[in-house]
Amino acid sequence: TEVKATNVVWHDGEVSRTDRYRILGQKGATLWFTGLSGSGKSTVAVALEKELAKRGRLCYRLDGDNIRLGINKNLGFSAEDRTENIRRIGEIAKLFVDTGVLALTSFISPYRADRDSARALHEQAGMEFIEVYVDCPLGEAEKRDPKGLYKKARAGEIKNFTGISDPYEAPEQPELVLKTAEMSLDEEVAAVIALLEKRGILL
Ligand code: PPS
Repeated sequence: TEVKATNVVWHDGEVSRTDRYRILGQKGATLWFTGLSGSGKSTVAVALEKELAKRGRLCYRLDGDNIRLGINKNLGFSAEDRTENIRRIGEIAKLFVDTGVLALTSFISPYRADRDSARALHEQAGMEFIEVYVDCPLGEAEKRDPKGLYKKARAGEIKNFTGISDPYEAPEQPELVLKTAEMSLDEEVAAVIALLEKRGILL
């Protein structure tokens, strides 16, 4: 990214991240769900948020369509725009983590390098970043086709559609893989919760 903001310095406050975590009674973390359109990213995030809320944990979901209707409405689906989309989501998720919230991000995020940048942004700041590969075979996602987009992509009505006419680079070392064509939603939520407990994020 070209840096245009010069002569700008970080200004520290007098309340630290640790203070904020203490006030909120929880630790922030980003759970980064990545996978094809229709793989189940949003479905898992919604169910997980519900379960975590039941346990008294504050989450905030950042979701592809919602973010693209707002802050990222000026971005399309070219490689450059997807990269910028993910860069902004990474920064936004980091702000949530800094406050002590569990940020659940559901974006295709097709490029490994972009996901790695979001990870680095968190890890360099000492923040938790958990990559969850929502692994669903293309054939299955296409069969689900909840928004009818695969059909349109096959018909050539949508260009650069991930999995059809645009790449998806699967994670090589995600913290967790959810095979959504084989697991139930309850099993998926349980797997994420177990990982959060193991990593000491849910105390
Ligand atoms: S990305 O690649 O991470 O920037 O994409 P994301 O912000 O997650 O947006 C994906 C949703 O946008 C719709 N859509 C497309 N997806 C992929 N390729 C193309 N060309 C495209 N055009 C529109 C689609 O509904 C995706 O929603 P999900 O929830 O993933 O099915």
